[in-house]
Amino acid sequence: MLLNLLALSNVGRWYAGVSRLAGALADLGVGRGDRVLIYMPLIPEAIIAMLATARLGAIHSVVFGGFAARELCARIEHAEPKIIIAASCGVEPNKVVSTPDRYSNLDLPVIGSLAYCKSTALDHAATEFNIAAGPPGSRTEPNTRGKARAPFSLLYSTSVAVKPYFIKRGILNEAIAASKVKPKNCIIFQRYNVDVAELEDGFDILWEDAIQSSLPHPCVPVEANEPLYILYTSGTTGNMMFLNVQSILGSEEIIAHPQPFPNPNSRTLFYLDQPKGILRPVGGHIATLAWTMHTIYGMNKDDVWWTASDMGWVVGHSYICYGPLCYGITSVMYEGKPDRTPDPGQYFRLIHEHKVNGLLTAPTALRVIKREDPEITKGRKYSTKTSRGPGLDPRHLNISVKQYVRNSVNSASLRNLFVAGEHCDHETKFWAEKVFNVPILNHWWQTETGHSITASCIGLNHSTSPPKFSAGMPFPGYDVRILRSNGSEADIGELGRIVGYYDTMDAGYRDDFGYIYVTARDDDVINVAGHRLSTAALEDVVMSHPDIGDAAVIGVPESTKGEIPLCLFIMKKGARKSEKAISHELVLMVRELIGPIAAFRLSAAVSGLPRTRSGKIARKSIADLARSKSVKIPSTIEDPSVYKNIKEVLQSFGFAKNAPDPK
Ligand code: COA
Ligand code: AMP
Repeated sequence: MLLNLLALSNVGRWYAGVSRLAGALADLGVGRGDRVLIYMPLIPEAIIAMLATARLGAIHSVVFGGFAARELCARIEHAEPKIIIAASCGVEPNKVVSTPDRYSNLDLPVIGSLAYCKSTALDHAATEFNIAAGPPGSRTEPNTRGKARAPFSLLYSTSVAVKPYFIKRGILNEAIAASKVKPKNCIIFQRYNVDVAELEDGFDILWEDAIQSSLPHPCVPVEANEPLYILYTSGTTGNMMFLNVQSILGSEEIIAHPQPFPNPNSRTLFYLDQPKGILRPVGGHIATLAWTMHTIYGMNKDDVWWTASDMGWVVGHSYICYGPLCYGITSVMYEGKPDRTPDPGQYFRLIHEHKVNGLLTAPTALRVIKREDPEITKGRKYSTKTSRGPGLDPRHLNISVKQYVRNSVNSASLRNLFVAGEHCDHETKFWAEKVFNVPILNHWWQTETGHSITASCIGLNHSTSPPKFSAGMPFPGYDVRILRSNGSEADIGELGRIVGYYDTMDAGYRDDFGYIYVTARDDDVINVAGHRLSTAALEDVVMSHPDIGDAAVIGVPESTKGEIPLCLFIMKKGARKSEKAISHELVLMVRELIGPIAAFRLSAAVSGLPRTRSGKIARKSIADLARSKSVKIPSTIEDPSVYKNIKEVLQSFGFAKNAPDPK
């Protein structure tokens, strides 16, 4: 199998660890085609788990840590994993922890940079899993202590308290308990320096026990078209699911509501929007990823690459793990935020300290740095530590951005910064170009494709100053077309639906030179901080509130996250709670059922929603109104008068300020 050959030759010192975890999985009955679900934060063990699964010809399914237990449960039920591999906990700044009693007893680390792992194909090796983690004096795994050569380091420094969220004790156990499909076993990686989970005898297996009791497993050859992984993304499929509203709101009143749920135990049947699983064949994909490292990103064999994303997203699969490792170059992993861990200088520090040559991130991350430290006082501080640039002369600590750029040290290693995942506004691009002093190259992707559909390809000598709003040219192999709603091809510059081998559901246009511009999603999916979310899934949760009769969720602009959800709901007659109380409960419900990454905070009652005669809510018209665009009321809308009140409500949130009245 291609992947394993590459893993053997290029990821040399990972070999022993990966092959022994593969041995452990095989001993537990995992074989070719079986699924292994991985629910881990961005730590090297996540990659080891992925490679060990792939080594057996089995299929991994990595679930993003920011999803709630219900989302995890939906993925367990769909993927039917034989084994789940998880960590005891993840860490997030300011995380609200659901079990406060236990939390207060924790010996919490004070962490500057959450964790940093320099993962290089030859050097970063989990040498027989000698995981030496944590600050001096912290707990280390008993059976690895002393042997460790610190294959990766966790940097603990200054002043930000980072709190764990309990994967094993909380989210994972809850999801498994709720799932109709149970895994045979769980392999648990304990993060001893943060939080240790209690393991269940006979069901949970300690990561190091699994490895030490197993022999290395050879590669299992597979056909190129056999699946490597399943990765879930927001789609538009409906499925029956049970939802326990009472347990979330903790309210007896809901059960006693005058219009009770069908089941008096409050376990209620709803149609819920289900995630869409993308099944990725291995051969062509891995070959493409290795090829793109030079073709798109211009990486050479001795370069250092950093994708600042999460393993739960396609970008993480492709360019934290498989792309750089198969190409044989260093891949940097950073379990931290652009700000708060501990400050907005971290991207500069990492680029500087590890001589990063290419960086891929989401525009939101750049917007976060720009918002928190527009003059890059923190970034400048880290950068001045190098010999090139302003040096250590204290006078330079107060130089302007312009001066800083002239003296920029990052340009010493960084050649290009790539952005994807969401629209990149020009102001952010312009600012980032100045402070990082490299071209900011936008490229357009989908989970469905696994790599970019359009890009400015460094290796093909594309211009590094493409037209400012473009997402580059179609990548070789893609026949990108823009279609009108009747299926005919749009003219140059005419907005339409971008299609290729399938309908991408993104809207955009093409210019005279062949550059593609992606403007927005054309379906009921919104993009919150680079996270793709289904408005239908959010509406499903909202509609499960007993006081709500109808609801619509739309995406509204937000300066850092790009877009956030806003919910307009119609209260049922005789609703027992106030609008304010309902809105508060909706926030709790969405956090519990979808996850905090939905950033769901805005909701309000309206008197009516614009439904068509066929029953569809004209969400786009509300989203346009929120953006102060002129709205032509579709002739099929049953009650056009509803827009008046909707506009007032949107204005109360600061949207639709200059919106003309819909006509
Ligand atoms: N595990 C658990 N919780 C997570 C999480 C994770 N991996 N990632 C985010 N969350 C939580 C956060 O703690 C936060 O919770 P809170 O409401 O209790 O504070 C919530 O989800 C919202 O997080 P987010 O919107 O991601 O904001 P952030 O400040 O935590 O992170 C970015 C900012 C820019 C780092 C993040 O949005 C990001 O990485 N976006 C890019 C996504 C991406 O890579 N997409 C692929 C295209 S490149
Ligand atoms: P995901 O499948 O989670 O990677 O999300 C894919 C979606 O993100 C696309 O369908 C687009 O809507 C959006 N997206 C990705 N890259 C870009 C980009 N460069 N510009 C605008 N939107 C993008």
